[in-house]
Amino acid sequence: MSYVLGTHSAERERLGRQHHIWRADSQAAWQRAGFQAGDRLLDLGCGPGFASLDLAELVGANGRVLAIDQSHDYISHLQQQAEALKLQQLHSQTLNLAEPLGAAALGELAAGSWDGAWCRWLCMFLSDLDPLLALIASALRPGGRLVLHEYISWDSFSLHPHGDAVQQFVRCCIQHWRQQGGDPDVASRLPGLLEQRGLQLLSSRSLMACSPSNQPKALWLQDFLGSYPLQLADAGLWSPGQQEALEQELAQAQRHPSLWVTPALVEQIWIKP
Ligand SMILES: C[S@@+](CC[C@H](N)C(=O)[O-])C[C@H]1O[C@@H](n2cnc3c(N)ncnc32)[C@H](O)[C@@H]1O
Repeated sequence: MSYVLGTHSAERERLGRQHHIWRADSQAAWQRAGFQAGDRLLDLGCGPGFASLDLAELVGANGRVLAIDQSHDYISHLQQQAEALKLQQLHSQTLNLAEPLGAAALGELAAGSWDGAWCRWLCMFLSDLDPLLALIASALRPGGRLVLHEYISWDSFSLHPHGDAVQQFVRCCIQHWRQQGGDPDVASRLPGLLEQRGLQLLSSRSLMACSPSNQPKALWLQDFLGSYPLQLADAGLWSPGQQEALEQELAQAQRHPSLWVTPALVEQIWIKP
């Protein structure tokens, strides 16, 4: 099944703006997990690789980052970036992480030699988490850390006051992703699944925000509202009347003090004993 958000250039650019807004949170998470120079790190579901580039900088010339995504477009974009920036420590591979990997595809991933794995906004799109979790459990070395940023309650995404159209939009997104086999609240299932794989939870925290319209986390939500309704409309889930109501609501939120609550994003840091 093709990736529900698409891999066209507009979405790639949105992912870049999104990474910029969440960059400090991801870097703080890597620090808490002890990622450091010389490490061998995986970026699972890396997209066009905005975080992979930061991880490559973090590990330096003596480390190694392997970035993995199912999208050929994203991986070839990242390879071009790595070459242009002469980041020899950054490698990338096209793989479907929702399917069991054969020995040939596993390659260096099978080795149990990775110091850490970073995985953000991937699990929510996978219809089957087993292949990914098996891969993580085998690829990490003993003492290796997994850092996850996934949502636990996507329907907390809301606008206050007068956020009725935003609320409808949120319901439609959740319906769309569930129809495609995803689970926007996947973070609630991960503790049980990772415990079964023998990993131990080191820490967790909420990365949820509540911001006025002109602040970065609110701008991030408005950016998404500027693009995703078109995809929902293509899927037959969003009508012109709903779009008109949404646009009126967004204009009102610019004119009056308003609060944007993000979907509840959760950080989890796990260790392989
Ligand atoms: C929202 S993007 C997040 C990208 C990146 N992790 C970040 O934080 O910017 C989700 C990514 O998951 C990838 N993806 C979705 N399903 C996948 C699968 N089955 N195997 C590998 N990658 C997948 C998509 O191609 C997309 O690049």
